[in-house]
Amino acid sequence: MRSHCYLPIALNVMDFVKALKKRRMHRAFSTEPIDSDLLDSLLANSLAAPSAGNTAAVEFLVLEGPTQTNRYWDITLAGPKREKFRWQQLLDAPVLVLVATRPSAYPERYGESDKARASLSVGTEQWSVPFWFVDAGCVIQNLLLGVTNESLGACLFGLFDNEASVAGEFGVPDDFRLVATIAIGHQLPDEPGRSSDRPRRQLAEVLHRQDW
Ligand SMILES: Cc1cc2nc3c(=O)[nH]c(=O)nc-3n(C[C@H](O)[C@H](O)[C@H](O)COP(=O)(O)O)c2cc1C
Repeated sequence: MRSHCYLPIALNVMDFVKALKKRRMHRAFSTEPIDSDLLDSLLANSLAAPSAGNTAAVEFLVLEGPTQTNRYWDITLAGPKREKFRWQQLLDAPVLVLVATRPSAYPERYGESDKARASLSVGTEQWSVPFWFVDAGCVIQNLLLGVTNESLGACLFGLFDNEASVAGEFGVPDDFRLVATIAIGHQLPDEPGRSSDRPRRQLAEVLHRQDW
């Protein structure tokens, strides 16, 4: 087991705003592997995320190399779907990170004495906003920015109706939800995603002051 610290000096430090603006989803990768220590540093740094009640129930399943990643693609792009898949070089990504979260950790945490939110400790149904997914999103964004900072590429995608089969294949415990998969690798020129023509919304469009 390697030990990790935040912001190891081996990491590059890109200007923060530059990293924010440079980050985008990449959908083509070379097969060149990612250094395992660098990957571990990126994952460790991503845990420096906010978390409701510091519950921090986000965990990772890392698949490295074609033997492991093909087990994933064989389920999610089975049979002829694989040949027809639009982004063939996305399948070459040397790393897939599956981001998981344990929803039941939140009622458990909010039943602790310093929280004592009895209503939220009953179960996940009582939560008007599922903070376990919010927390996962925060970790994910840290990871995506860390990847950008290393001038590597990443693409996040959903598991949709493959979640249960993927969880079964890799032995993910029943109380975890698989939030998303993040392919990471050395980027190649790619075709943009289907949503890329949609302009990023500007502050004036989304900002409401005083009253909505
Ligand atoms: C929750 C979430 C789910 C996404 N799911 C997919 C997906 O299934 N397939 C995909 O190609 N991109 C997916 N994306 C990437 C978005 O299409 C992309 O972030 C968006 O078009 C903005 O482009 P950019 O991230 O390159 O700036 C997802 C992004 C998020 C945040």
